[in-house]
Amino acid sequence: MPSTVRTTTLPSGEAVQVLGQGTWKMGEDSRRRADEVKALKLGLDLGLTLIDTAEMYASGGAEEVVAEAIAGHRAEVFVVSKVLPSNASRAGVRRACENSLKRLRTDRIDLYLLHWPGSVPLAETIEAFEALRKAGKIRHWGVSNFDTEDMEDLAGLPDGGNVQTNQVLYNLVRRGLEFDLAPWSRKRGIPLMAYSPVEQGALARNARLDVVAARHNANAAQIALAWVMHREGVIAIPKASSQEHVRQNFAALDIELTAEDLADLDRAFPPPTRKRGLEMI
Ligand SMILES: NC(=O)c1ccc[n+]([C@@H]2O[C@H](COP(=O)([O-])OP(=O)(O)OC[C@H]3O[C@@H](n4cnc5c(N)ncnc54)[C@H](OP(=O)(O)O)[C@@H]3O)[C@@H](O)[C@H]2O)c1
Repeated sequence: MPSTVRTTTLPSGEAVQVLGQGTWKMGEDSRRRADEVKALKLGLDLGLTLIDTAEMYASGGAEEVVAEAIAGHRAEVFVVSKVLPSNASRAGVRRACENSLKRLRTDRIDLYLLHWPGSVPLAETIEAFEALRKAGKIRHWGVSNFDTEDMEDLAGLPDGGNVQTNQVLYNLVRRGLEFDLAPWSRKRGIPLMAYSPVEQGALARNARLDVVAARHNANAAQIALAWVMHREGVIAIPKASSQEHVRQNFAALDIELTAEDLADLDRAFPPPTRKRGLEMI
């Protein structure tokens, strides 16, 4: 792992990179597959070893793209995948995990997340996660799209303290969670994994980022990413199927935002002043 990729620490004590690679919308179109594999491989070559996927993406197709990209490099890669809430029962989680492992062509998932809160009692899902962990099928587990109240509920359950991350929508135009979920998580040392960090590409075209971008000889997408990564205990997982975007996102690791930049960004994208419900895409 190159020293340029900064890390943050999971509650387990393990270091994870603050920049990973997302895969939503990959595996949907066979004509784009070769480019998607190439982009993920380029990221790996640059040293971006955290890859985020889910059984939901392209109904398993994204996990197959990941398998192709990581073939021969499994030991270096930190694979994150997710189980759908509709599969979150004891038997459902076990089955879903086996299917993901087959598609990923691996014997273990590094971090397995519940994709969003559903109707299966959380205690049952945690039991299933713990059983998979003890069996070595997953190394860690976590959640996604959990608001502060959901995290409070989780923390009160047996083994709930073993949660390693909460993957949530977070970027310059989605700052609501800074009011309570972010401080709650920071206090407990639970990193947030920021999905859609460039707002699905929209922040790359946002002119309000241009002034700061010009100061760093960078583009708007890179500033949006640098901003997410500068937050303490936050991991950004942009998706890029173009190699040029992968290179740009990697280069964003070198951008050090100044106090002036941060103040300008706060003016353009104000932080929340009251509690808002967690947003989801
Ligand atoms: N847990 C959840 O519920 C949840 C929900 C949404 C997403 N996610 C995860 O988070 C990942 C990232 O979120 P996302 O895919 O929704 O959105 P995103 O990463 O904010 O945006 C992806 C889009 O931005 C473009 N892009 C990437 N880098 C760029 C750059 N440097 N300049 C200009 N455009 C750039 C990509 O284009 P190209 O592909 O053409 O390069 C793609 O169209 C997902 O892939 C998925 O793994 C999780």
